[in-house]
Formats: sequence, C-alpha cells, structure tokens
Amino acid sequence: MSTTKHVLITGASSGMGRATSLLLSQNGYRVYAATRTPEALHDIAGNTLIPLALDITDMSSVTNALKSLERVDILINNAGYGLVATVEDVTEAEMLAQFNVNVFGTLRLCKAVIPLMRSQNSGIIINISSFLGRIGLPLFTLYNASKYAIEGITDSLRYELAPFHIRVHSIMPGFFDTNFARDNLVTNPHTFSKHSPYASMVSTLTPVIVEQINRGNAAQEVAEMIMQIITDEHFSAHATVGDKAKKFIPMRKELSDEDFERRVREYYGL
Ligand SMILES: NC(=O)c1ccc[n+]([C@@H]2O[C@H](COP(=O)([O-])OP(=O)(O)OC[C@H]3O[C@@H](n4cnc5c(N)ncnc54)[C@H](OP(=O)(O)O)[C@@H]3O)[C@@H](O)[C@H]2O)c1
Repeated sequence: MSTTKHVLITGASSGMGRATSLLLSQNGYRVYAATRTPEALHDIAGNTLIPLALDITDMSSVTNALKSLERVDILINNAGYGLVATVEDVTEAEMLAQFNVNVFGTLRLCKAVIPLMRSQNSGIIINISSFLGRIGLPLFTLYNASKYAIEGITDSLRYELAPFHIRVHSIMPGFFDTNFARDNLVTNPHTFSKHSPYASMVSTLTPVIVEQINRGNAAQEVAEMIMQIITDEHFSAHATVGDKAKKFIPMRKELSDEDFERRVREYYGL
C-alpha cells in the first residue's frame, strides 16, 4: 500500500494556497489543489500537484469534486477574502457572502472530508484563520468575525474529532504579501464614499492596512508552518506566523482588555 499522504487544499491558485501546494508537492505529498480557476495552476501542475475545480460555496460542487479522490489525509481550509464595510452600510448580500466563503466554505469542506478521515481513523485539518481572529478592527468587522468563527470551529472540532484521531489546528497569520489586498478585498461603496461619516476612519486606516499586507511576510512562511504542523503530531492547537501575529497575539494574552485596546488604538491611530 502506498504511504504517500494525500492533501486537499482550497484557494490554491494564489498566495498561501499556491505556495503550500508547491511546497507539499515537492516534499512527497500528493496535493489536490482546489480552486475556482484550475487554469491558474497550469505552470505548476504535475503528477503530485493536481488542480481540482471546486467551488467552496456550493456543497454539490464539493461532494462531486471529492468523488474523484481516493483518500484525504490532510485538509487545508485556506480560501478566503476580506470585506471592508461598516456595519451600518454592509448589505445583506455582502454579509452572507463573507460568511459563505470564509466560514461556511470551511464547514462544507469539513463536512465532506470528515467521514473519509473517520473511516481512515486518522487525519489532519488545518484552518487558515488570521491574527484578526483574535483582534477587533473597525471596518473589518465582518472579516474579523469570520476569522473569530474559524477559531471557534477549530476549538470545538478538536474535541469532536479527537476520538477518531483527527487533529485540528488553526494558523493565525499576520499580514502577508499575497493577492489578498490586490485582488480580494471587497469594499462597500457607501463606506468608501467621501460623504460617509466614517470617511476619516476609512482614509486613516485602510491605506495603512493595505500597505501592511502588501509589504507583509512571504507566503512561503505559511507553507513551512503547515509542513511543521503536519509533521509534528504534538503541535499545539493554534500557530502564529508572520510579524504582526507575533506582535499582537502574545500581547492579547498578556494585557488586560483595556490595555490591549489602548495599544491597538495607538498603533492604528484610532
Ligand atoms: N494575506 C494576508 O495578509 C492574510 C492574513 C491573515 C490571514 N489571511 C488568510 O489567508 C488565506 C489565504 O489568503 P492569501 O493571503 O493567500 O490571499 P489570496 O492570494 O487572495 O488567496 C486567497 C484565495 O482564496 C480564494 N478566494 C478568494 N475569494 C474567494 C471567493 N469569493 N470565493 C471562493 N474562494 C475565494 C481564491 O482561491 P481560488 O481562486 O483558487 O479559488 C484565492 O486565491 C485567506 O483565508 C485569508 O483570509 C491572509
């Protein structure tokens, strides 16, 4: 019987998903690189990196794609995007779409893969969360809430799946230089109108965040963290990677709520 581990990763066409697909496929794993745009992976596709057309917002697309897979040893829920909108401006469609991709997309993949892992009596699920899954920021309320949800899903699933020897982890990256701020930030037009009561907050905060993402760490660091989690069966529940996560996550643990909020206000001029 082959000992090659089979990996399924979502959002594989760019950034962290692409870097991880490449690293794992070069290190003896068979990677099913799930994406809405398989053609975007043509330059790196091969015997151990197989593009898989899959829409994480559609359960039948998920189940159909999984029919072609023999087994799944490792699931990496990576696909996600960021919505920038105040709560008073956000539309019903924007709210639902943000959670449909970042949260329900993760749950759909888990739902489809857990029965396979349970029958194998082993498995690893790695959810890509964010350091913003532990920190609030104005204008990013829906995005941050989606990442807090990923943290909750991870913590709960750890108990639910432990009897079946399925490990569940989250990675909380800081800011990383990927396509995230270039292609995948969705902005609400009312929030970004120059007549918005939030105009000064928008003009203070959003360019700073975009700049920090575009000058962030390299996606390769997340790929290497994923390798570390896979190969270390005693790895802790949550991993932090990247400068901003290493700055804010320990601070969040050490400071009181009031002191932490003060530091975030000072740092971002809020
Ligand atoms: N970059 C950062 O600073 C940062 C920091 C913390 C956490 N994260 C998280 O890291 C993960 C990977 O992001 P990244 O930085 O590598 O960004 P990225 O280069 O934009 O890649 C994200 C991928 O997610 C998928 N995706 C985006 N919008 C989608 C939508 N509406 N529906 C379905 N899939 C969608 C796309 O995959 P396909 O086109 O291949 O389907 C896209 O390639 C995300 O969950 C993000 O929230 C990023």
